[in-house]
Amino acid sequence: MSTAHQSRFRLRGAATRIRKVVAAAAIGAVTAGTLVATAGTASAQTSLGDAAAATGRYFGVAVAEGRLGEQDYTATLNREFNSITAENSWKWESLQPARGYFDFSAADRIANHAQQQGMELRGHTLVWHSQLPGWVQNIGSADELRSVMYDHITTVMEHYKGQVRSWDVVNEAFEDGSSGARRNSVFQRVIGDSWIEEAFRIAREVDPDATLCYNDYNTDAWNTAKTQAVYNMVADFVSRGVPIDCVGFQAHFNSGNPVPENYHITLQNFADLGVEVQITELDIAGWGDSQAEQFGGVTLACLAVPQCTGITVWGVTDKYSWRAEDTPLLFDGNYNPKQAYYAVLDTLLNAGGGDGGDGGNGNASCTVTYTETQRWGDRFNGEVTVRAGDQPISGWSTTVTVQSPQKISATWNGNASWDSSGNVMTMRSTGGLPAGGQTTFGFTVMTNGNWAAPTLGSCVAS
Ligand code: G3I
Repeated sequence: MSTAHQSRFRLRGAATRIRKVVAAAAIGAVTAGTLVATAGTASAQTSLGDAAAATGRYFGVAVAEGRLGEQDYTATLNREFNSITAENSWKWESLQPARGYFDFSAADRIANHAQQQGMELRGHTLVWHSQLPGWVQNIGSADELRSVMYDHITTVMEHYKGQVRSWDVVNEAFEDGSSGARRNSVFQRVIGDSWIEEAFRIAREVDPDATLCYNDYNTDAWNTAKTQAVYNMVADFVSRGVPIDCVGFQAHFNSGNPVPENYHITLQNFADLGVEVQITELDIAGWGDSQAEQFGGVTLACLAVPQCTGITVWGVTDKYSWRAEDTPLLFDGNYNPKQAYYAVLDTLLNAGGGDGGDGGNGNASCTVTYTETQRWGDRFNGEVTVRAGDQPISGWSTTVTVQSPQKISATWNGNASWDSSGNVMTMRSTGGLPAGGQTTFGFTVMTNGNWAAPTLGSCVAS
């Protein structure tokens, strides 16, 4: 048996083990946190890129330019992925280490590799507070910093014009924690709030065909201050015509920052603003079943959102991950696919079918409307009507958000779960609906003095 055959044999065993520990599930009828690979027929002949392409999406990877000479690294990259992000070589400190001195040598090796392999490129990243050379950090004049930002964006985007599908125009501009504030970067301090939209306007001018993204981490759970702050910025940009096309969700997960239960709701809410969403730097600390389930869940969350156009994992192999000790990737240090790999592949294959796929039943749609049905001295009942679009749907979910100190004390006709604040209830269907069909679910809100009506999230159909 050749090494390749031996390895395929091991992989099929791994896939079987996964299937033993996971429950079969329909797309969208489970949460990202609990989702697992369905009982599909993962083929060792099929790559992540091909399986994603069958759903109309890309499956990408961050590439460390210095590893391209390693045979197994490049073989795995070429076999499995159809999109590349440069892990470090396209960052400001690499491309323009001194003012006016641009060095595209390492960056071009990545671009050339993508071109030779027929892969897409994601551009990461034009303006970021980190990996930013000292000469930029020390600028104190707004006009000078604007001019430097203009030169950098223009020179880099011109260099790769026509080659890059999506650009992370601005990266990580918001603080972590509960403030929802802008990060205290040199751009924020010296130029002020307008710096982000200025960067997007420059980028649109240089390459009108590229998809322009705002990219950040810890924006996965819907109800956090950071997610809300980014959402509000994007909503504001869209309403004022600031050129933004996409939001990138880095998706670096670990036990302290797990995959949120209602991840697809976050993605869908952003997409409902009229932007594309992309999962741009996915890695999940862990191993075995738990890691596999979470990777499957993130994949499913993307598939549940028609505007989620692709997933990029942040590295080829655990051994070169920026957090190697967490073993957060799909291939181990010997380039063996892990259980997580099979969870992703099975999930993609199950969605794509053999017919070119529709992005996880991407034609399916539903709407939700709310009415208050009864009121007492201390509480009221609400009812939500869910209507399927012109295609039958196998499942649906939506969120109901109440305002503290309100509490939902009872629910009926659906499977309810709550986020950690207790204010956001995700309600999932117990069955499907025919085309144009409708159903209702209900709940009781204890007002505790607050009579505000709850707000509904989008309806996500599967
Ligand atoms: O190449 C030098 C090497 O010559 C030197 O000997 C060594 C000593 O420290 O450093 C090497 O550079 C390191 C570089 O990675 C390449 O390995 C830098 O120190 C190190 O800071 C850099 O880390 C990168 C990190 O961004 C910097 O913030 C990681 O590789 C990269 O994965 C990570 O990627 C970021 C995304 O761009 C944005 N989102 C978060 C993500 C993870 O942190």
